Amino acid sequence: MKTLAKIPIDEAIAAQLKYLQRHPNGVDATMRAQALSARGGGALEDIMSITPIGGASFGNPGRKVTTASLRDQKLHHEPITCLTAYDYATARLVDEAGIDMVLVGDSLAQTMLGYDNTLSVTMDEMLHHVKAVRRGVKNALLIADMPYGSYQVDTKDAILNAARFVKEGGAEVIKLEGGERRADLIRRIIDAEIPVAGHIGLTPQSVNVMGGYKVQGKNLGGIEQLMRDAVALDRAGVACLYLEGIPREVAAMITAEVGTPTIGIGAGPECDGQVLVFHDIMGLTFGPAAKFVRRYGDAAALITNAVQGFRADVRSQHYPSDEESYHLPKETKTALDTVLMRKRAMAR
Ligand code: KIV
Repeated sequence: MKTLAKIPIDEAIAAQLKYLQRHPNGVDATMRAQALSARGGGALEDIMSITPIGGASFGNPGRKVTTASLRDQKLHHEPITCLTAYDYATARLVDEAGIDMVLVGDSLAQTMLGYDNTLSVTMDEMLHHVKAVRRGVKNALLIADMPYGSYQVDTKDAILNAARFVKEGGAEVIKLEGGERRADLIRRIIDAEIPVAGHIGLTPQSVNVMGGYKVQGKNLGGIEQLMRDAVALDRAGVACLYLEGIPREVAAMITAEVGTPTIGIGAGPECDGQVLVFHDIMGLTFGPAAKFVRRYGDAAALITNAVQGFRADVRSQHYPSDEESYHLPKETKTALDTVLMRKRAMAR
């Protein structure tokens, strides 16, 4: 990466404009404006690098989503889309479908690992999935969920764990659960140059304290607490705020109050964006779905059908066919037949 301080101004402008011609959409809007203003004789000193934000998206014609572009979406009332993904293939499909944010949620404890709740999943298990998803995501903003126990005990440990998601996993934002009592920790993580997503309302890591997965903020005291939580996290500088399992009216009030984009799950349509768990929308979960889940596909039926088809074909010897088999080259086949014939003759 060449910094502009080290290269002549004309060369810098030419490089910027050449890049813009080749990648009209794959560049941060600020950079585009800076390059154009440089061409028009404007200030160049603001431009620090000719490398666009999101190295992974270099050469990719899609739009790289950033924490700044999320705010733009809120300002322009453009709904933000977010889905969970836990592996490379799903991440690619979700990213290529144009979803804005991909969340490697700790819900993978249940969906991928078969645990009863999110409390058991470890940093190492989360990292394993974040790395796989990183390889599949080009344009979406990649968010990694801090698992239970990785940030509640000690601030230094929390920052180190958050940094592992960035350094080893390639996450762009980390997410943690909790309201105003997490505000100081969130500030410290942001001080370490790591954007943080907040998560309030029904926070699954507090399942034992809440006494089950219950909608939060249903009485005046609960509403007041949620408003305080949202404002405290907004002031702490969260990149976005997940609102889970709260009444629509409360989510609407929070969304109107805070500058940060709100991403709802079971929080009604007034949020700035919506998130759902991939396995829920694809019918890949085994229990009854929550009220807010809308199913967009029946992957379970598709998979069962395909697996039963394979089993039946193997058992009835319809798989593999001759067309699905490799064959010897003609000369080798002739030579082999001759050898076998000789062997048979000698055996007689
Ligand atoms: O882990 C997860 O999937 C989440 C979403 C439900 C927001 O935290």
